[in-house]
Amino acid sequence: MTAGPLPEGISEVLFTREQIAQRIGELAKSIDDDYADQDLLLVGVLKGAVMVMADLSRAMVSDPPVDWMAVSSYGTGTRSSGVVRILKDLDCDITGRHVLVVEDIVDSGLTLSWLLRNLGSRGAASVEVCTMFRKPGGARVQVPVKYVGFDLPPAFVVGYGLDHAERYRSLPFVGVLADKG
Ligand code: PRP
Repeated sequence: MTAGPLPEGISEVLFTREQIAQRIGELAKSIDDDYADQDLLLVGVLKGAVMVMADLSRAMVSDPPVDWMAVSSYGTGTRSSGVVRILKDLDCDITGRHVLVVEDIVDSGLTLSWLLRNLGSRGAASVEVCTMFRKPGGARVQVPVKYVGFDLPPAFVVGYGLDHAERYRSLPFVGVLADKG
């Protein structure tokens, strides 16, 4: 458990460091089993996915290669619009490879919807998604997500990669940001 007082602004812990570690282990095992003997590439979406990618990839026994994309979603305030610009593209060719996109959170689904279309047009053998967190209530487009860590309640959550104005990403747990829900 999280010892001591919560960081300023956090009203409640939703998922502890231990709960996250256990779920990561379960996801890693499923992915290892599902992609056994296949040419798997993990693709992380910066920046929020850094934590989950670091833990997930190290929990996998198959030692999969990792690549990164950075995208910018145009929108008003905190709402994404579905119009996405690539800030950093993949370094490698994904033709014929099995791609697993690793995300910290799927909210409206707009970023992922665009990303799946984009990656799908590059000739990958398959493109699937693993997200650590999902906001079921927020979905504006349905995107197929093969692996989900945890479903979230309708609150503004931070930690384990999730930020508010670039703060709280490094918290080892996920908590509710007070007065934002
Ligand atoms: C977050 C997250 C997803 C996207 C999900 O990224 O990492 O990429 O939002 O939102 P959506 O489902 O509503 O499209 P963000 O743009 O906040 O960037 P970050 O990872 O750098 O925090």
